[in-house]
Amino acid sequence: FHLKKTATNLVFGDGNTKSKIVFIGDAPGAEEDRQGKPFVGQGGQLLDKMLASINLDRSTVFLSNTIFWRPPGNRTPTSQEIAQCLPFVHRLIELIEPFILVVLGGLAARSLLSETLAVGRLRGKWYNYEIPSLSRPIKATVLFHPEYLINSPAHKREAWQDLLMIQEMKKNLY
Ligand code: URA
Repeated sequence: FHLKKTATNLVFGDGNTKSKIVFIGDAPGAEEDRQGKPFVGQGGQLLDKMLASINLDRSTVFLSNTIFWRPPGNRTPTSQEIAQCLPFVHRLIELIEPFILVVLGGLAARSLLSETLAVGRLRGKWYNYEIPSLSRPIKATVLFHPEYLINSPAHKREAWQDLLMIQEMKKNLY
């Protein structure tokens, strides 16, 4: 894990490990690295608002990332770095056993769901996320990354629909 050498803190996760809904983003940024907590920068503030819009918060979800250390200067993580962290992301999901997995952005969609289309094409549907040790598949969906929404607010409308879809699924599952 050479990213560990340039990072200040490990950013593993935040929230409730007993919750039934897990959100996975891409990689920690500067503020996350400073605090050792995921989604505490600008994107995190928008994510908190998105959660609040469907009556969720950090006491009712668990948040983590595809990469556990900030890549220097926020560069895109390499496929090797993604591959190194992936077993731990899988294990995290396996231990929490959520009903719902929300994949934030294209990098997480490629790593976790092996889906390579743009988020705009992947969003708005449910995927089965299979974990061999779990008897039921986890319902997974892809959402625009909150940092992307800050720069492309025109997509907020779709993100809002997707949040309502998640809220509906949550009602059906638990
Ligand atoms: N963006 C992410 O994907 N994760 C974070 O923790 C912060 C910003």
